[in-house]
Amino acid sequence: MLLRAPLTQDHIDYLRKRGFLHPDESVRSSGKAGEGNMNVTLAVATDKRTIILKQSRPFVAKYPQVPAPPERTGIEYQYYQCLASQTDLAGYSPRIIAFDPDSWLLAMEFVEQGADYLKIYQQPDQFTEALAEDLLNYLKALHQLEVKAFPENQAMRALNHQHIFVLPFQEENGFDLDGIQPGLQPLSRMIKTDPALIAKVMQLGERYLSPGRQLIHGDFYPGSWLSSPGGLKIIDTEFAFLGDPEFDLAVMLAHLHLARVPENRLKSLLESYPLDEALLAAFTGIEILRRLFGLAQLPLDLSLEEKEIYAHHAIQLILHDAF
Ligand SMILES: Nc1ncnc2c1ncn2[C@@H]1O[C@H](COP(=O)(O)OP(=O)(O)OP(=O)(O)O)[C@@H](O)[C@H]1O
Ligand SMILES: [Mg+2]
Repeated sequence: MLLRAPLTQDHIDYLRKRGFLHPDESVRSSGKAGEGNMNVTLAVATDKRTIILKQSRPFVAKYPQVPAPPERTGIEYQYYQCLASQTDLAGYSPRIIAFDPDSWLLAMEFVEQGADYLKIYQQPDQFTEALAEDLLNYLKALHQLEVKAFPENQAMRALNHQHIFVLPFQEENGFDLDGIQPGLQPLSRMIKTDPALIAKVMQLGERYLSPGRQLIHGDFYPGSWLSSPGGLKIIDTEFAFLGDPEFDLAVMLAHLHLARVPENRLKSLLESYPLDEALLAAFTGIEILRRLFGLAQLPLDLSLEEKEIYAHHAIQLILHDAF
């Protein structure tokens, strides 16, 4: 079953057979749920409710020539299963409705009026005290979960590893950075020509790929945070694995830096969730660099000069292991 909008009668029959829809439930409309690259993610309105259907394919939905691990919605499903018995974490998660491993199809509750935080780079005021508290509560509870077994998710980690720790630091990576912003390509040489930086990044990349003990979200950036009248919901958990909790907090800190959230707010986050500072600093620096010079660009409007300042700061974080 290949999911696409609008749903056909064949789709609907399949969804009924697999228990995604009740026998007497009729579909009123279906369409793209929002902006996403990796998967086919639809919002389906029925006469009873609205649900999200998310299907992973053996490639990136938006770029079919790029292969990607098909089992990633299964990872997402298992992640939510691990969180279900902890009340706080369950409250921060959309309710899971069904999962079908034969077509890598996941159904979950549609978060009404859910809006991600991708405007935060222009509006740092979105990082309220209440949001900071929710995000830290979530990470602390997540990283305290005792998860005995979780898939290695090695194929997704290998994909992320390439895009975070390898390609941005390669001279010939094929990215057209000048197409994003004229002058970005020559600026990127500052992270491609420093052997000490590259050695440290490689070492951290190995650490990212090695087995850890705590369940982490793996992509904890503002695109995965949905605000809604029912409170904060955390979505898109396909990069989860047992790893270093520092990775989640570092990704969050990197994006708050890029959103120009004041330093004192970031310091207080570090104080209220003390982890290995050296590792946090290094992962934070790497996330900043890959967002400036990698393929997964953000809706930032920073001048080239500002990007250069960010990049210097990020390199300091990586090489000197401190904020
Ligand atoms: N449970 C939900 N309720 C409401 N909207 C949702 C829900 N899940 C996803 N969306 C919307 O669909 C978009 C894409 O979802 P998601 O990020 O999970 O897909 P993806 O294909 O993994 O995206 P990406 O390529 O960014 O990783 C979200 O940004 C959001 O706008
Ligand atoms: Mg995703």
